[in-house]
Amino acid sequence: MRKKISILGAGKVGATTAQRLAYAEMCDILLWDRTEGMAKGMALDIKESSPLEGFDSEIEGTSDIKEIKNSEIIIMTAGAPRKEGQSRDDLLKTNAAIVKDLSMQIKRYSPDSKLIVLTNPLDAMVYLAKQVTGFPRERVMGMAGILDSARFRSFISDALKVSVESVNGMVLGGHGDFMVPLPKHSSVNGIPITSLLSSDEINKIVQRTRDGGAEIINLEKKSSAYYAPASSLVLMAESILKDKKMVLPCASYLNGEYGIKGIFMGVPVVLGEKGIEKVIELELTKHESDQLKESSAKVHALINRLKEL
Ligand code: 2OP
Repeated sequence: MRKKISILGAGKVGATTAQRLAYAEMCDILLWDRTEGMAKGMALDIKESSPLEGFDSEIEGTSDIKEIKNSEIIIMTAGAPRKEGQSRDDLLKTNAAIVKDLSMQIKRYSPDSKLIVLTNPLDAMVYLAKQVTGFPRERVMGMAGILDSARFRSFISDALKVSVESVNGMVLGGHGDFMVPLPKHSSVNGIPITSLLSSDEINKIVQRTRDGGAEIINLEKKSSAYYAPASSLVLMAESILKDKKMVLPCASYLNGEYGIKGIFMGVPVVLGEKGIEKVIELELTKHESDQLKESSAKVHALINRLKEL
């Protein structure tokens, strides 16, 4: 029997993720949205492409949250997306109510699942999901670092005119304006980018990465990013379902790693069938470590605002 992934929220990220997972034939898919008929219609549309695309994954849509039962993985995309001029943090109050409610349903109907949160402001929403579900840290994680690193890698590849496949890049920290791209831990097939690009060029790429989400909104106007976020979610799901143990930057609850405790932040982790199987501690320079502390202070402040709601 194929394992089941439930996707909560049939917005652009949710629908694109559902489609990509169906094509990948890794699992059966349930797409949930509270708007009656919406997820059902989208799932049916994706299913009707199966003879053309050649996939046999089952995909169903529902507005009945009870149907998430027995999910191996639940992907939470529900919530208001960021609009032009808004920061991710501006979504705190609206999305906290949605994430809290859905986390209660997850705890009730699919208590053994692994939960991947995408809803913004990510680091606070994944914290809230952990609090409400009471799931252990292995089973609650946030998607952000893969997306931020993908942006970083794609900009490096553009600057050097080399294949993205040869570019490794790492972005740590909160998924906000203070995220921490790590040029020293980024390379082109093992060659550090610090020896291939000037510090000016690197600084520009770092800043563009930090502004990556806003750049898309400013161009698209009506939507925040969804193709690259969906690809990032699919990669996480693949590493878990196939127990590949990929090393990927994900938002993980920290228990003292990097000198940070009690919050979620983007760090490299090993993702396998148990979820986050290990947090990897990189050796950071003083500057990088200071930047990570600054980023963690922002996440702490956001969580304090969450507690005041
Ligand atoms: C992004 O970075 C909206 O957080 C999302 O594109």
